[in-house]
Amino acid sequence: MIAIYPGSFDPITLGHLDLIKRSSILFEKVIVAVLTNPNKKPLFSIEKRVSQIKQCTESLVNIEVDSFTGLTVEYAKQKNAGVLLRGLRVMSDFEQELQMAHINKTLENSIETVFLATNTELSFISSSVVKEIVRFNGVIDHLVPPNIAKDIYLAIKNQE
Ligand code: PNS
Repeated sequence: MIAIYPGSFDPITLGHLDLIKRSSILFEKVIVAVLTNPNKKPLFSIEKRVSQIKQCTESLVNIEVDSFTGLTVEYAKQKNAGVLLRGLRVMSDFEQELQMAHINKTLENSIETVFLATNTELSFISSSVVKEIVRFNGVIDHLVPPNIAKDIYLAIKNQE
């Protein structure tokens, strides 16, 4: 079974990476699919995010990284994927994720959403929090892979 792991990944965090590694054991192939959430203004371009995720996942043979526009279920159909994968960190994620899963099911009944619980030790991490810490001159080396930390420090410095 092929799974799509869709998200903004602006940028990828250790929480995302943990989920990718665990999902690579469960599925034949996992496609990490980057798209812009219209409700969020991104720090990194889609191309940069794809290249960041590729760097972080190069040791995993059954992980592909791609980008797309439009509906996630349409992209999943194109890729012959049967599963949309999403991580659940805390209860407050659940409401929005459940709504998204229901909507996607009404759009394409043959595609199932599978939730994986985020690793407890990483469940507090979000891309937004990581960017906020750097904006206030904090350290994020324990929250994202080293190459991503460098990118964020640089991108936020260049915004100032
Ligand atoms: O990482 P995010 O921002 O929580 O990811 C949300 C995302 C991008 C997966 C979601 O907004 C999405 O699937 N957008 C594509 C448009 C779509 O398919 N909408 C219908 C389902 S709500």
